Amino acid sequence: MLLGTQRVNEFGHLEIGGCDTTKLVEEFGTPLYVLDEEYIRENCRRYVDALRNYYKGESRVVYAGKAFLTLGMCRLVEQEGLWLDVSSGGELYTALKADFPPERILMHGNNKSPEELKLAIENEVGRIVVDNLHELELLNTIAQERGVRANILLRVTPGIDPHTHRFIATGQVDTKFGLNLKNGSAMEGIRKALSMNGVNLLGLHCHIGSQLLRISPILKAAEIMVEFLKEVKDQTGVELRELDLGGGLGIRYLSTHNPPSIEEFVQRLCAVMEKNLKRSGLSYPVLLLEPGRSIVGEAGTTLYKVGAIKEVTFSKNGKLFKRIYAMVDGGLSDNPRPQLYNAKYEAIVANKASQKGEVHYTIAGKHCETDVLIWDVLLPPLEPGDILAVLSTGAYNYSMASNYNRFPRPAAVLVRNGKAELLVKRETYEDLLRFDVIPSHLQK
Ligand code: LLP
Repeated sequence: MLLGTQRVNEFGHLEIGGCDTTKLVEEFGTPLYVLDEEYIRENCRRYVDALRNYYKGESRVVYAGKAFLTLGMCRLVEQEGLWLDVSSGGELYTALKADFPPERILMHGNNKSPEELKLAIENEVGRIVVDNLHELELLNTIAQERGVRANILLRVTPGIDPHTHRFIATGQVDTKFGLNLKNGSAMEGIRKALSMNGVNLLGLHCHIGSQLLRISPILKAAEIMVEFLKEVKDQTGVELRELDLGGGLGIRYLSTHNPPSIEEFVQRLCAVMEKNLKRSGLSYPVLLLEPGRSIVGEAGTTLYKVGAIKEVTFSKNGKLFKRIYAMVDGGLSDNPRPQLYNAKYEAIVANKASQKGEVHYTIAGKHCETDVLIWDVLLPPLEPGDILAVLSTGAYNYSMASNYNRFPRPAAVLVRNGKAELLVKRETYEDLLRFDVIPSHLQK
């Protein structure tokens, strides 16, 4: 599987954005996150164009920064004309420091602190997505103290099981997120918001889950949300003007994954919107989508160096098995997804990219636990020093990286047209000590 601008060059090496990955490794070291700029931009444009083509009302693409956010990424998203979804004070601060236009920032969070809300209000972010009644009161007070009215959307949970890993499912009834649509709390939130002087309720939001390879749950959510907009109009006389249906479109981690294309997803979603809007006699609300993974996921590749290789044989149920562990110089700290979500990945040997797969390997990390990145992958015979490229690591890898075992976090480079530039510097051992303090009674 080759994605975005990936290709195999005349040396049999994996190339991304016109850069030979073996050269990237020489220059930047490993592990290394490589981000394909063309591909990210293409995905942004595909969303914008698809919405323009298939939706009859106004629309906005809001990049979900939690997937991958750095100052440089903010600039890229800004250039593509997208909005930006931030879900914490830290993400908001990053966006502000990148001079991202605050009016195009949408602020999320299910337990926003007063400080986060103040930061959002003082910087006049475009939308705050209010998650619960406590936050609504808090925001109303903070805004009134400042004599402003915050533009808000209200997050509701449509009560849908999206059939994805339970840690990334959010639209079902039993969830910490949002106001429940079925038990009346959503309507209560709407009535409250409409009566408040510190908030300006513009619309509704829902996000039901992530890495959805089948989009029928999102289509169902759209239907329920339109129905609810109608109910709101009937009960309060107010026709809310914005509807944000969140993110969630899945990507190809494996060649066998076959998610709908961005165009197919948007087209089907818009058809459902149109049908249901017509039925309920509502006009087209501004439609917002918040893709994260499907913008940046397939555009990221992690390069590792192979070190130790070891073969084990073992018997199970009377049968003899062999496993070959190939160990790389990263793992859990740069990609926790296999452990957290049982996520699957594919890999290419970057310096042997034109060779056929012959041997089954188990790719293990170098942390002090069984941090297997891939349990079974067919690769050309490996030797220490080979460069392993793990695919589709652009989303939720760098953003979830840690310093477990005191591993410095890897660098991230942006590649395009044969040029590679840093997005994030590699951490050093010294960086690891930056916030350590030796209590006075332990000092030498
Ligand atoms: N909007 C909201 C409110 C969200 O909570 C999320 C993701 C998105 C948009 C973007 O969803 P996407 O298009 O990326 O599926 N760490 C997990 C993923 C958590 C997703 C959380 N919310 C993982 O590594 O799979």
